[in-house]
Amino acid sequence: MIHFLLRSGWIGRIRLALTLFGLPYTVCTPGVRPAISCSYSHIFRTSQTFGSIRTNCCNLYTTGVHTMPSSSAPHVKSRCPQYPGSKINRFLVPDDKVGWSQNWPQYKPVSYTDPLVAKKPVWADPEIGSFSPKFNTVDGGVDRTSFGGGYKMEKEKPLNPSGRTGVTGRGLLGRWGPNHAADPIVTRWKVDAKGSKILHSVSKRPVLQFVAIKRKDCGEWAIPGGMVDPGEQVSLTLQREFSEEALNSLEILPSEKAKITERITKLFKSPGFQVYKGYVDDPRNTDNAWMETVAVNFHDDSGNSVSELPLQAGDDAGQVQWVDVDSSFPLYASHSHFLELVAKERKAHW
Ligand code: BGC
Repeated sequence: MIHFLLRSGWIGRIRLALTLFGLPYTVCTPGVRPAISCSYSHIFRTSQTFGSIRTNCCNLYTTGVHTMPSSSAPHVKSRCPQYPGSKINRFLVPDDKVGWSQNWPQYKPVSYTDPLVAKKPVWADPEIGSFSPKFNTVDGGVDRTSFGGGYKMEKEKPLNPSGRTGVTGRGLLGRWGPNHAADPIVTRWKVDAKGSKILHSVSKRPVLQFVAIKRKDCGEWAIPGGMVDPGEQVSLTLQREFSEEALNSLEILPSEKAKITERITKLFKSPGFQVYKGYVDDPRNTDNAWMETVAVNFHDDSGNSVSELPLQAGDDAGQVQWVDVDSSFPLYASHSHFLELVAKERKAHW
């Protein structure tokens, strides 16, 4: 059946339909498989049991009876069937069982903490029981507060405020509870040879471009964000991560350093537009550890500041480039949503 669907182009039509209705779907490129797959398939809401159809790189969940995709599904990527970078399959959580208030005695999540995290690197917490973290507060240098307010605890472990994910433990995340990141969205207008803004052929709106990196861990395009270090101001994280990942500041020649630092500092000191602050639907999330971020847009309106700097991928980035802001470009975690907000704010094409 699946072979028939693939051959006859039905998958394309299903994708188109999902897109038209604003529903998420997995983007799969046959034969191209990143080291860690961060892509996800939509989990369909159903009152029946789940069946799984496995294709090359996607898992589709269907039932024999009614299969109803939900347009407002809570944290979809956080329930991706296979935990990234592992062979661990999450306990499948249908939309109506995500909330902790739903009594679900059958829920038997898989416990998983990546071996790298278990080795206790400096950026990770030890196991609960072997240290005494203070949750819901700033604990030493580590910010264990959530942007969403107080989170609940169960058996001494923090509970994901967005609900069940099908995995307990920390997976790939270092901290129990919230793991704080910062996302610098650096934009400019797309211009022609004369410097005039290029309008999109369909929307007739000017096209924005943003600095995107290709993440080394999963091969997906993303905003060059990163984790907030203990005690670090978010404003500094934004500038540091952008410099490390998009300008390769860690290996920059001393002769170029002054000019780059000056331009970057000026742009990041300008009043940025805070696009988002809160929980992120990240494929690494678990029932006890999750991502939160602050995304800020810094816009080079004249195109003669950061736009003129040579981009060079560094640190966690495999590639870096200016990319047109457009709804059809698939991005990591919730990054597409952040760019949509930027496009709306700047009245640009989306
Ligand atoms: C990334 C950020 C991202 C966050 C949540 C971090 O690892 O660097 O760009 O927003 O995770 O997904």
